[in-house]
Amino acid sequence: MAGAGDAATLPVIDVGPLVSSGPAAAAARVAGQVQAACRDRGFFYVTGHGVPADLLTELSDASAEFFALPLADKLEIAMARGGRAWRGYFPVGAELTSGRPDQKEGLYFGTELAEDDPRVLAGIPLHGRNLFPARVPRLRPLVLDYLDALTTLGQAVLAGVALSLGLDAGYFAAGYTADPTILFRVFHYPPSRPDDDGWGVGEHTDYGLITLLAQDDSGGLQVAAPEGWIDAPPIPGTFVCNIGDMLDRLTGGWYKSTPHRVRNLSGHGRLSFPFFLDPGFTAEVPPLPDLAAAAEDGSRRWDGQDLRAFTGSYGDYLLGKVSKVFPQLSRDALS
Ligand code: OGA
Ligand code: NI
Repeated sequence: MAGAGDAATLPVIDVGPLVSSGPAAAAARVAGQVQAACRDRGFFYVTGHGVPADLLTELSDASAEFFALPLADKLEIAMARGGRAWRGYFPVGAELTSGRPDQKEGLYFGTELAEDDPRVLAGIPLHGRNLFPARVPRLRPLVLDYLDALTTLGQAVLAGVALSLGLDAGYFAAGYTADPTILFRVFHYPPSRPDDDGWGVGEHTDYGLITLLAQDDSGGLQVAAPEGWIDAPPIPGTFVCNIGDMLDRLTGGWYKSTPHRVRNLSGHGRLSFPFFLDPGFTAEVPPLPDLAAAAEDGSRRWDGQDLRAFTGSYGDYLLGKVSKVFPQLSRDALS
């Protein structure tokens, strides 16, 4: 397994020109870097993102305060209480990635929708109100601010992805992410013993378009690369960005959603903040014909799944995945 010294293997991209709509030439240069990163690793770091450092610091503090509460207090917002909206707290071992319980606890958030929103009234799964802990009241405004900030950043990164594919900068913002599916999680990984063969989160790919991950200084994130697993160590002030299954599908595999996993060997708790910017729930995401033709390389995916074979909306895809990672909850809440 790879260890220290890999820091340079994942590119760092300054997305400033995309965030502030700089000159077209600057955006095109960034798009070139995005293309190289997506073709090569499917993972890169972003700087120049404009998300205030204070926001993340305060969110981290409030999250740490929440996870330090007694279990009974955390269970006041257990996911079972979030019903179909699929929000709230899950304890260590409750989420199964690739069929095995993860060594992490966490909070699930998403777009905050009122009870009288038509989608909530219609009972569409994964739509609704967030559950926030009464015991850490500052978490609510921090999470809502963070959702806004990361949505803005994510749309900017997607503008770069669009340019990198020869599409208009606004391709996603005007289409798949005009009314995006937004999921946000805060994870706490307890330290794992070196002899423990369990994973904080097991090998998987992400489901949607792009993920923007903030991680604390613990390390432990690993990314599948042609030469084997490589580390994606924390770089202060950056987000880790990676491609999800829908961007893989859209490009017919020209960009691949890259498997990754986490084991926290830091000896202390690890906090991470994955934010997912995904297509609208009802959107279907067929391959772009020109790219798909260019991408035919016949290589099998890590889990044998054929992304092209799937039919249905992104919502269908997401629910299929979610019901595997939370089987019990899915039977109770979504049936
Ligand atoms: C995920 C994920 C990594 C991390 O939530 O999909 O890969 O560091 N998270 O928590
Ligand atoms: Ni992931």
